[in-house]
Amino acid sequence: MTERNEGSGVAAGRKLSRRDFLKVGGAGIAGAALLGSAGCGGGSSGSGDLIFAMGADTTGTMPTLIDKFNKQSKGFKVTYREMPTDTGAYFDKLRTQFQAGGGDIDVIGADVIWPVQFAASGWLLDVTDRFPKSKQSEFLPGPIQSLTFEDKIYGVPWYTDAGLLYYRADLLEKSGFSEPPKTWPELEEMGLKTAQDQGIDNAFVFQGDQYEGGVCNGCEYIWTHGGNVLDPADPSKVVIDSPEAAAGLATEQGIVEDGVAPQAVATYTETETDPAFLGNKAVFARNWPYMYSLAGTTDYPDVKPEQIGVAPLPLGEGQTQLASALGGWNMLINAQTDMPDEAWEFVQWITAEEQQKWRALKASLLPTRPTLYEDQEIRDTIPVIALGEEALKNARSRPVSPYYSDMSLEMQEQFNAVVSGDTTPEDAVASLQTSLEQIVEAGA
Ligand code: GLC
Repeated sequence: MTERNEGSGVAAGRKLSRRDFLKVGGAGIAGAALLGSAGCGGGSSGSGDLIFAMGADTTGTMPTLIDKFNKQSKGFKVTYREMPTDTGAYFDKLRTQFQAGGGDIDVIGADVIWPVQFAASGWLLDVTDRFPKSKQSEFLPGPIQSLTFEDKIYGVPWYTDAGLLYYRADLLEKSGFSEPPKTWPELEEMGLKTAQDQGIDNAFVFQGDQYEGGVCNGCEYIWTHGGNVLDPADPSKVVIDSPEAAAGLATEQGIVEDGVAPQAVATYTETETDPAFLGNKAVFARNWPYMYSLAGTTDYPDVKPEQIGVAPLPLGEGQTQLASALGGWNMLINAQTDMPDEAWEFVQWITAEEQQKWRALKASLLPTRPTLYEDQEIRDTIPVIALGEEALKNARSRPVSPYYSDMSLEMQEQFNAVVSGDTTPEDAVASLQTSLEQIVEAGA
């Protein structure tokens, strides 16, 4: 069993009632009484600079962006605090700081899976008055929902993410395929043939490590086979122990067992996926939109953007409903900051159209403002953005819950055991049915 982090979702000693949990798990709005703030102090460390935390940036755009802000900023400067790239490690660091009274970070670049959990603990500044519904409507609804708890909003959407299928259009064409695969069996067949014909090491690579990205991949296999983790009609109900979910995980396991993906994907995160696919070592890869911007750069000169195609993730046999995991990052403000106005100014600046456009062009990150998907310059130079927009229409949230981090640890463990061949898909979904139910019940 994975060791569970105590008091993960909610400030120590305080719990949401089951009724509250149900409401949170539902629309992500209304219901639970906001739990008190977890301490005092924190924020800005008295240096006069605003501290902005975000994971190390593989696209290399962050320092430039912060410099740009500082050059035009009149009253204050922003200092960038580099956090772990792995979302789980970053989350743990933040939680430790919050539990110790707030820490000195003012603005947090935060994964979409965190705000509900942090807000339920009282750790985030409620920005509802500064960011009314009339302004929220300028952003995509999915990221807005990830920031909404109890009908209040706790941040601003920054960029969004959806799982995509990358393919080597050049290699597929040489092997006689003019279209990307529509189903997982087609991916297996096309990938194996093309890899063999063209002398490429692997047909497919994806993220199977025991970490958050492994949860995204595992959920995608489950969803593309018609399964679910929680019941969409009643998110307090765990429904993972189904033939559909088991079939999804069986496809994930079979892909490794049949040598479509190397056994090493059991330790692959995004960081290992980039050099495999962009280093000419795989025909297909599952990854987020950012990988497109790395093609043909000095780090990855072997595969150029023109050689790459991007498509929706394949479906299980007989399935019709496309699906990919909704990812992305939001800007949050520490409830304990002593620079709330400056923090808000920075959040507004970095999520503004101009900055989002700049980053979409540089780093192929999907904007959270729908108007930018119509921008001709973006559409012409970064085709993955238009394809990403399609994928977003079918993107699904991981469970929305103040206990999500605990649920994630359980899924990380079981999904990784499936990829490694250490458990059967049936045992994995049965075990998750029990452990996830226990987590839901713990909120009762
Ligand atoms: C990406 C997604 C994020 C997800 C993470 C998993 O950063 O945007 O939502 O949790 O990948 O590795």
